[in-house]
Amino acid sequence: MNWESFDSYPSLAARAAEILLAAIRRDPRAVLGLPTGRTPIGMYERVVAECSRRYHCFRDVTTFNLDEYAGIPSDHPGSYRTFMKRHLFDHVDLEPQNNHIPRGYAPDLAAECARYEDEIRAAGGLGVTFLGLGENGHIAFNEPGTPFDSRTHVVALSEETRRANAESFAGSVPTHAITMGIGTILDSVSIVLLASGANKRAAIERLRAGQTGADFPAGALWLHADVTVLAAVC
Ligand code: GLP
Repeated sequence: MNWESFDSYPSLAARAAEILLAAIRRDPRAVLGLPTGRTPIGMYERVVAECSRRYHCFRDVTTFNLDEYAGIPSDHPGSYRTFMKRHLFDHVDLEPQNNHIPRGYAPDLAAECARYEDEIRAAGGLGVTFLGLGENGHIAFNEPGTPFDSRTHVVALSEETRRANAESFAGSVPTHAITMGIGTILDSVSIVLLASGANKRAAIERLRAGQTGADFPAGALWLHADVTVLAAVC
């Protein structure tokens, strides 16, 4: 595991953007796994700023988001599709058919999970996947206890996670979500974990200490050969 520590959020965001842009430069047809949450916002800002100067950045790129809330329409203000439109999709030349997010409003959520796995496979698998980190160590919406070989599935969100994400919802935070499984994420060619803020310090310390039990989802990253952790948690 490669560790890079930063003394500020802007420097972490700049480094994350540099890694993302380098991946696209290396392979203009890159398949990226993308996160939501507060942490990646600075990365997206920098990527958008850079790509407005360099036309065609995302023309042949394919993206798969890690997760989406269940039971809300994709244009709901709190949905991850709305987040991605606001922070990335509306500002770069990514083809609409090439950005993928689980459909949390699908009538058959189990079928939607299987379809999402098929889409990832059909795209040739995930190249670089960027992850945020929950305070309890969750990655995407894989809460503690999720098997490390899990595939895309429906989850009941923990009270802690619902509280942490409440600001995007006026009152009623969804109770369920669709998330890539830990096994789906581990199939990426490489993984970049972003963690910023004092509230993530404990989870980063558990990761650095090498915890690999199922009660700590991020610990699964020790099973992968190419993981970079970008941390600004002091
Ligand atoms: C949500 C997302 C995760 C994200 C986490 C941390 O639970 N589903 O993918 O990593 O929030 O978010 P933040 O970056 O806002 O702390």
